[in-house]
Amino acid sequence: MNTTSPQSAPNRKRPFIVAGNWKMNKLLEEAQALCKEIYDPVLKEKWNQVLSVILIPPFPYLHPLKQLLAKPDILYLGGQNCHESRGGAFTGEVSTEMLKSVGATYVLVGHSERRKYFGEKNDLLSSKINNVLSTDLTPIFCCGESLQVRNKNLHIPYVCEQISNTLFHLSARDIKKVVIAYEPIWAIGTGNTANREEIQEMHEAIRNHLTIQYDDETAQAIPILYGGSCKSENAEVIFSCPDVDGGLIGGASLEATSFNAILEITVNILKNQS
Ligand code: PGA
Repeated sequence: MNTTSPQSAPNRKRPFIVAGNWKMNKLLEEAQALCKEIYDPVLKEKWNQVLSVILIPPFPYLHPLKQLLAKPDILYLGGQNCHESRGGAFTGEVSTEMLKSVGATYVLVGHSERRKYFGEKNDLLSSKINNVLSTDLTPIFCCGESLQVRNKNLHIPYVCEQISNTLFHLSARDIKKVVIAYEPIWAIGTGNTANREEIQEMHEAIRNHLTIQYDDETAQAIPILYGGSCKSENAEVIFSCPDVDGGLIGGASLEATSFNAILEITVNILKNQS
């Protein structure tokens, strides 16, 4: 059984997740400083039944950051990628068991930068998802369309197909252990965020797609995060969409002030919902 997924509060159908993807940024001391600045403000609130905050640093920082998280009841660590095999002669790669051994509980799978720069396709991503789940870690599966696809009005079938091709071999029991992150490629790192209607439309379409393949109870249990230029200026609007269960934050997670501002907004939204 996967024991890493956060519990949802009784009045929330799904856990709420704010994840910071640091990508290939920061040196060790900077990463430690950022982690310390994030840790304290979040821990003051007892939100561990509702909110999980995930830091997704470069691999070499997972273990040192784990040392800073003495009581990891709200702040978790994630890997940015993993190999699809359990181990062996794969120079330069990192296995899910290794990630687990240095303190990660989540793993990003299929980030658009992995798809674009490293040619990762749905078949490979399916194997990675299986590997992450079999290690008892939680995959955060990223999906999203290019501007070209959106301009042709094909964004919903495109994203639904990414999900079917990569996740629909899983049983209902296993897919409930997956977190989905919808990240329109045209919004990642560009400052162009999808608007509220576009985000809710896609998240609802993803949930309907899950309901058709599985059932409503399963679809309602899966957190769907939004990513793509999410920042303190738009977090309130994005996070109050009914089918948005948090965010995958890139640029705005690299500074404590901007990430903490997003966390503060999140806590206020959750307070109002409780
Ligand atoms: P961004 O990145 O917030 O800088 O757009 C998001 C991501 O790539 O996960």
